[in-house]
Amino acid sequence: MRRLLAGWVLGILTLPVIALAMAWCGLLPTYASAPPPAWEKAFSQMALNNYVARHAPHVSNPLPMTDETLLAGMKIFKDACAGCHGDPNEASDYGASFYPNVPQFAKNPPRLPDWQLFWIVRNGVRYSGMSAWDRQWHNDQAVSDDHIWKVATFLSRLESLPPAVDAEWRKKQP
Ligand code: HEC
Repeated sequence: MRRLLAGWVLGILTLPVIALAMAWCGLLPTYASAPPPAWEKAFSQMALNNYVARHAPHVSNPLPMTDETLLAGMKIFKDACAGCHGDPNEASDYGASFYPNVPQFAKNPPRLPDWQLFWIVRNGVRYSGMSAWDRQWHNDQAVSDDHIWKVATFLSRLESLPPAVDAEWRKKQP
């Protein structure tokens, strides 16, 4: 029984000890100059999606779903997010230099409900370049929940924007 228990404890400890030894010896890669392998991307996306689904409070969007709200969200996106996440006229080269690469929403919309987008933008994503926006400043103002709801509302409708908003979204900036 004792031997069984010792074998079991050893088995459980082996992997973390190997990982720790590899990190200690400088064997775990830390560079960002190559794209992540597919398994690593799939794993981290799964962890993010499932964490958010479990922890984000399922609150209802306090803003009316009007063109005005969507346009305000689009403006925030173009000002504060498109540098990394790109827009319909330009994928972001800057976003391509991150590990993982920053998702380009014009090509691959996030396809998440607004309350999950609100939570992600507000709280950020660990070990990536995605910061917690409730601690950020935008145009000399602390970013408010109202700002975050606007941009979350916009992103949640990216694939079904009303024509007037879609035209603004696709308009080239001077
Ligand atoms: C400095 C670059 C940068 C900026 C600026 C930035 N993001 Fe991100 N964002 C990232 C990165 C990197 C990820 C990918 C995280 C990952 O792969 O898990 C990300 C992920 C996201 C996600 C999750 C996507 C998914 O696949 O689930 C959302 C939503 C998001 N960002 C929204 C925004 C919004 C809205 C803004 C502007 C208010 C913004 N981001 C600004 C770098 C950025």
